[in-house]
Amino acid sequence: MSSDFMPIKAYDHVEFYVGNAKQAAHFYDKVFGFKPVARCGLETGLRDRASYLMQQGQVRFLLTSALHPDHEIARHVALHGDGVKAIALEVNDIEQTMREAKTRGATVLQPVTTLEDAHGVIKIGALRYAGDTIFRFVERRHYRGAFMPGYQPIEAHGTPGVGLAAIDHIVTNVHLGEMNHWASWYEQIMGFSNLIHFTEKDISTEYSALMSKVMEGGGGKIKFPINEPAEGRKKSQIEEFLDYYQGPGVQHVAMNTRDICATVRELRNRDIDFLRVPDTYYEELPDRIGRIDEDYKELRDLGILVDRDDDGYLLQIFTAPVQDRPTLFFEVIERHGCRGFGQGNFKALFVSIEREQERRGNL
Ligand code: FE2
Repeated sequence: MSSDFMPIKAYDHVEFYVGNAKQAAHFYDKVFGFKPVARCGLETGLRDRASYLMQQGQVRFLLTSALHPDHEIARHVALHGDGVKAIALEVNDIEQTMREAKTRGATVLQPVTTLEDAHGVIKIGALRYAGDTIFRFVERRHYRGAFMPGYQPIEAHGTPGVGLAAIDHIVTNVHLGEMNHWASWYEQIMGFSNLIHFTEKDISTEYSALMSKVMEGGGGKIKFPINEPAEGRKKSQIEEFLDYYQGPGVQHVAMNTRDICATVRELRNRDIDFLRVPDTYYEELPDRIGRIDEDYKELRDLGILVDRDDDGYLLQIFTAPVQDRPTLFFEVIERHGCRGFGQGNFKALFVSIEREQERRGNL
């Protein structure tokens, strides 16, 4: 199925609801190298919340906190912990997008809303997605400001970036039995198509299993895998997420880099924890992957994983969860033609995740 009825230009931003947006902004600046671009809050005349827009390459993270306890954002954080509230996509014609979505059965949470200031006009609208997560659409072709009306530019240099260039994909975890529902939702509402389907035969260890469907839209630029747990001997990593997030939500955001070794080396210098696979993984790697531009020894030192398909290879690595609850984490990925998601690494990776789960007393 094509997405002609809902043309999506690009990822616009990802909004996180957090307990303390000011401190979160500091973390994404000093550790991940995002530049603070714009903010809103009491100083800009907003009485109930504060937001910071952080940017690196084309990746934009919006960090938002409530200023009062009796507030939707505060309740969201109390229930889910820090996490992704909104996946925002840029479209050319939001009236058409929202009309199509509604006709096709989407739950509209925010009808088209026009925001305006001296820099122009922005239109936004939102749809309900899995759990308390929403999809936001943004039409910004008539806007020249820093981010959106109501935001003030931040005059800060920020910390040097680490080479994160763009969002590659965003993964959602859902309950057992819900994956196909949301895959159909992407097809019917968004006009996406199913790129890959993994069953528990592809993704299982001695202890746990999961199933996954990758939905693709925006001419191949936008990719949303959906995971659901499968029956295993013990609790799967997806169930652990669902327990601690108190329901479905975004599990990880994957970001592209053009030099994963440099990116990961710098993130390690800044004390980011990454998942480690057993050393035996690297012993068989050259035979499995063949010739690549990178040095196998360096990949091993940095803990970077490699996978290959017919179109090329990819390099990837996963951070530990970025808050105390074992929920959201990040992936750094460098693609050399390969359009997959590292299926050859699933097994080694899940053994490593289960080791961490065991340490948390959750296996
Ligand atoms: Fe991923």
